[in-house]
Amino acid sequence: MTTTLADSDVTLPVLDDAGRAALFTEARTANTFSDTPVSDETLAAVWELAKWPPTAANTQPLRVTFVRTEEGKQRLLPLLSEGNRAKTEAAPAVAILAADLDFHEFVPKTFPARAEMKETFEASGREGREQMARFNSTLQIGYFLLAARPRAGHRPDGRLRPRGRHDGVLPRRPRAGAARRQPGPPGRGRLVPAPAPPGPLGRRHLRVSAGAP
Ligand SMILES: Cc1cc2nc3c(=O)[nH]c(=O)nc-3n(C[C@H](O)[C@H](O)[C@H](O)COP(=O)(O)O)c2cc1C
Repeated sequence: MTTTLADSDVTLPVLDDAGRAALFTEARTANTFSDTPVSDETLAAVWELAKWPPTAANTQPLRVTFVRTEEGKQRLLPLLSEGNRAKTEAAPAVAILAADLDFHEFVPKTFPARAEMKETFEASGREGREQMARFNSTLQIGYFLLAARPRAGHRPDGRLRPRGRHDGVLPRRPRAGAARRQPGPPGRGRLVPAPAPPGPLGRRHLRVSAGAP
């Protein structure tokens, strides 16, 4: 729902130093994993946060599948780049992040003010919806990372790994089609995203992230 703040007495909270640290300045991308099980509650809590930030027309095309069983991981591992397999196998829980090309089915529920947009998306066909699904699910992946990262990036003893002292970087020798570092400002390469590979998860899903969580 859209609220005009000038006409309301709503006061939005400001992110304090602890919040800024947890979300941005002290958050880390985990690159090694302990075998401590991750509970249903923890996985649900990540999604409960990640689902709130905005998408175009509130379409919310991201679909998340959590994999925890050995059988599920063995099906998943061959689909990953070689450099991501060992750490993914070691992780107690893996999130597959995919986009639903039939997201429009839910528009009357997620965007009731413009429920007729369901028919507009229907008419544009799967190819027409793909760009919308890809763009907005990628946004949602960013939200998902922000929700998940404060729960990761710690040593097994719970202490934060110091910034710059971990190897959470893209593989040095990217495989064909992987993101490539391009010349950019000193000290920071510019990443050129690779085209997404064909989805291994069936026609309903478009694989949007090749990275391990
Ligand atoms: C879209 C995306 C794809 C990524 N792919 C991989 C990957 O394939 N393998 C990997 O080890 N890390 C991957 N990463 C992790 C990044 O290298 C990491 O977030 C970055 O180096 C920043 O690390 P920091 O958050 O600890 O500062 C990926 C991150 C993003 C956002």
